[in-house]
Amino acid sequence: MSLIKEINLDKMMRPDLLELEEYTPIEPLEKLSERLGIPIEKIVKLDANENPYGCDPAALEALSSNRVYHIYPDPASFFLREALEKFTGFDKERLLVGSGSDELLELLIRLFITPGDNIIDLVPTFGMYSFLGKQYQAEVRAVARDPQTYAVDLEATLKAVDDRTKIIFICTPNNPTANLCPEETIRALLATGKLVVVDEAYHDFAGISYGKLTSEYENLVVLRTFSKLSGLAGLRVGYGIFPLAIIKHLWKIKQPYNVTVAAQAAARASLQDPAWLHEKVGLIVAERARLFGLLQGLDGIEPLASASNFIFCRVHRGNARAIKETLETRGVFIRYFNKPLLKNAFRISVGTPEQTNILMQNLREVLASQA
Ligand SMILES: Cc1ncc(COP(=O)(O)O)c(C=O)c1O
Repeated sequence: MSLIKEINLDKMMRPDLLELEEYTPIEPLEKLSERLGIPIEKIVKLDANENPYGCDPAALEALSSNRVYHIYPDPASFFLREALEKFTGFDKERLLVGSGSDELLELLIRLFITPGDNIIDLVPTFGMYSFLGKQYQAEVRAVARDPQTYAVDLEATLKAVDDRTKIIFICTPNNPTANLCPEETIRALLATGKLVVVDEAYHDFAGISYGKLTSEYENLVVLRTFSKLSGLAGLRVGYGIFPLAIIKHLWKIKQPYNVTVAAQAAARASLQDPAWLHEKVGLIVAERARLFGLLQGLDGIEPLASASNFIFCRVHRGNARAIKETLETRGVFIRYFNKPLLKNAFRISVGTPEQTNILMQNLREVLASQA
C-alpha cells in the first residue's frame, strides 16, 4: 500500500486548463478503413482541405534518398528558408519556418499574450486562434461576421479593439466559409496599430496575397503553409513573413528542433518545381468550378462562392449531420457544422474529378433517401 494517501493532481494543475473542452481527434485513415470495411484507397476524404494530388514526386524522392535521419534537424531551417526566399521573393531574414503554421500561431500568442490580454477572433473562422488564445489565458473576443456573406464586420471589429487587444487574426480566404477579406478591411485593421496576423493557408487557390503589405506595415504578419498547396500536411511545415522586430524574439522562444529533417527536405524539394504546384492549383480551381455547379443543381443545398480549395454549403432541406453520417458509411467524408452562424451546414474539400463524381452520386442518393 502506498504511504502517500491522497494526491489530487487536478489541484496542482492550472484550473483554467482543466475547464477546457476536450478535443475530439480525427480518426486516422487506417482505423476508418477497418471500421467501415472499405480499403483506404477507396475512401474519399474531403473533410480536411488536403491536397488530393498528394505532394510533388520530387518531395517523395527527397524523403527516400535522405540518409541523415539520425541527425537532429537544422534549427534555422537555413536551406528551406533560402528556397523560400527564392520562391516568395521575401528576404529570408524575415522568414521563419514552423511545425505547421499552427506552431507559428502558437509562438505569436506566446510572445504577445500576458494573461488578461485579448485577441480578436472574426467568427466563424479557423478554430486554432481561439483554441490557442484560451490556452495562454487570453480573453478571446469573438466578433461575428455577416451571417449571410461572412464578410468581416469592420465597425464591430474596431469597436471590440481596446488597450488590452494584442492580436487581430484574419483568415483569408476564410476557413470554413471560403470568402476573401478585402484589402481595405485589412488596412483599416492595421491602422489600429495592433498586431494583425493574416492567415493565408489557402491564398494560392484565390490567386491573391497580402504578403506585399508586409513592406508597408510593421504590425503585419502573414502566415502560409505547405499543407495545402504542397500536399505535405502530414509532415507539418508552415512559414511566416514577419517584421524583423518580431522575428528576432520568435527565434528565442521556438523549440530548436521544431521542423524535422524529413519536413525540411520534402518542403525544399517541393519548391524546386513551381510549375508542378501551379498545375495542381489549376486542376483544383477548375474542379472547384465544376463541383460548385453540381452542388448548385441539388435541391435544398446552397453552395457559397469559394476562393479556396473547399466549398461551404448551407443545407435548407434535410439534416446536414444525417447526410454527413450516411456519406461516411459509404466511405465519403465531408466536414459538418452546427453552431451559431454555421447552422446545418457542411464544408466539402475539392478533390479530383473522380472523387467529385463519387461524392455527387452518393450525395444525390442520400438526399433522395432523406426526402
Ligand atoms: C486557416 C488555416 N490556417 C492554418 C492551418 C494549419 O496549417 P498547418 O497544417 O500548416 O498547421 C489550417 C489547416 O487546416 C487552416 O485551415
